[in-house]
Parts: sequence; structure tokens; C-alpha cells
Amino acid sequence: MNYDHAYHAGNFADVLKHCCLTIALNHLKRKDKSFVVIDTHGGQGVFDLSDPRVERTGEAREGILRLLNQAEAAPGVAPESAHAYLDAIKILGGGAMRNGSEDPGTGFSLKRYPGSPLLTHHLIRPQDRMVISELHPAYNESLRATLSRQPRVHVETKDGYETLIAHVPPPERRGLVLIDPPFERTDEFRILVRTMRAALRRWSQGIYMIWYPIKDTAAVEAFHADLRGLPESLPTPVPAIAAELWVRPRFPPLRLNGTGLVVFNPPHGLIQALPELMPWLRQSLAEQGKGEDRWFWLTEERKAGQ
Ligand SMILES: C[S@@+](CC[C@H](N)C(=O)[O-])C[C@H]1O[C@@H](n2cnc3c(N)ncnc32)[C@H](O)[C@@H]1O
Repeated sequence: MNYDHAYHAGNFADVLKHCCLTIALNHLKRKDKSFVVIDTHGGQGVFDLSDPRVERTGEAREGILRLLNQAEAAPGVAPESAHAYLDAIKILGGGAMRNGSEDPGTGFSLKRYPGSPLLTHHLIRPQDRMVISELHPAYNESLRATLSRQPRVHVETKDGYETLIAHVPPPERRGLVLIDPPFERTDEFRILVRTMRAALRRWSQGIYMIWYPIKDTAAVEAFHADLRGLPESLPTPVPAIAAELWVRPRFPPLRLNGTGLVVFNPPHGLIQALPELMPWLRQSLAEQGKGEDRWFWLTEERKAGQ
């Protein structure tokens, strides 16, 4: 396990993933009834943006810092659906104008970027709970140091896919699963499909948010095709969407040019947000107008539950 999310924390892929996660969690909070969040690949929990690893790639600068600075420079332009995410990042990240800076275009800085566990913890309520899995011993330690004293948080040192299957269906019967693997393994797409088949058979009502990188577009299309077939084998149809963002041209495909999310049982609030959110993210984050964005129904369009 060599993957270290510190190099990528706050990049455009994190922005898409965490913004959609925030919208989905806030949708679940519309009802008082409790819910669970299962984060299968938790990472370190929080990232220090002055760390040399962050500086080395500059990905946070081109991602969340660029987005926040544009939002500060042009108030009112960010879609309303993104406000809760931007507010949470500013609070958890210690956001402020740099000393002496009067330029809202580049002067806004963050000390930290919250990973999915810290962001989720910030958003859930006293009646809700979280289960997080992180396999890497050092990252698991950091995660526990950040969150494990919290009574609503359970941290596991197991394989995230095993954790998911062990915890569904949850007693609350409401909730969201974030699956955010490092894609170090060449068969990650295959494992994802196999795990989703088992998870949907156990709990077809859950919101499942699956992150993936877009490098080899043929591999992504095959992944979509495999996922599309899953709900058809279930007694009740399960709706799914995909949302994709490119910040560079698709070719050459060696770099992470694009990123995507598949969401099973997408909450209504997310479906409503995407038509405005996706173009705004592209306009804010793509290199010199070279990006693309799209979202579409992976399955036949159906009304989501929860
Ligand atoms: C992309 S990062 C997660 C980032 C995190 N979800 C966030 O949004 O801040 C993937 C993490 O999965 C961990 N990991 C790798 N294989 C795993 C497995 N089989 N089960 C659980 N965690 C795993 C890696 O150590 C890495 O920290």
C-alpha cells in the first residue's frame, strides 16, 4: 500500500466528491430519523496544507484554493448547492485572508483540508453515526487521533469492502456509503462491481457514492456497463447516475485528467443540484477552458428513495 492521499488532498477530484457528499448528507438531514455513513476508505482524516507533499503537487492550489478564491472574488456566483461545502471547508480548514492581502482573488488561504471522515463528522447530527475503514496502519492511527474519541464514530482497521458488507443493512435503514479506493490495484473496478453486487443484494435502499479516476476511458465505460447491469438482477430496480468532470483534455490519458462519481439511489437534492453545480465546477477548475462536465442516468431514470 503506497498510496498517500496527502499528495492529492483538496484537488479537483476531492472537490467534486466532497461537494456531492455534503449535498447528499444535507438531503438526508431533511428528516429527523437517524442515518449511518459508512466510509470504506477513510484516509488520514485531515491534511495539513503546509505539508511538503501538498506543496509538491500543487493540487490543492489548483483545486479547493482556486475554487474558494474565485468564490471570494465573485460573491453570488457559486451555486447555492455548493455553499454548505464551501462553508464547511472554511470552518474545518481554518480559512482566512492571508496577512496583509487585500486581493480576494488569491489572498484566501486554508491551513488544513478535511478528508471525508472529518467533513462527514462535521455534518452529521447527534442521532447519526459513522463507520470508517482505513487499512494503512499510520493513516488509521491519524484517523483515530482525529475522530475516535467521538461517541458516534467507529473506526475499523479492516478492508473497506469487508467493512461495507459487514455493516449492511444498517439498523437505521437509512444512510450513505462512500467508496473511495486508491485505485492502486489494476482490478479495482472489478472488485467494486463485485462488492456492489453483494451490497445491493443486502441493502438496495442505501445511497452508494463511488469515486473513480478517469484516465483510460474504455475502462470507465466497461465499469459503467457492469454497474448498469447490477440493479437489473435485483427484485426492485435501483436508480443510478454518473457525474464526471475533466479539468484537462482527455488525451493523453496518463495524468488524472478527469474524475467521476457513480451514485446509486441519488438523493433528489443532488439530482436538482447537478445541472448548475457541474458547469460551475468546470468553469472554476478547468485549465484555460479545456475541461468538460456531464452527468447522466446510468440506469433508466427513476425516482430515488430516502
Ligand atoms: C483516496 S484515499 C481516501 C480519501 C478519503 N476518502 C477522503 O475523501 O479524504 C484511499 C485510502 O484507502 C486506503 N486503503 C487502501 N486499500 C484499502 C482497503 N482495502 N480498505 C480500506 N482502506 C484502504 C489507503 O490507505 C488510502 O488512505
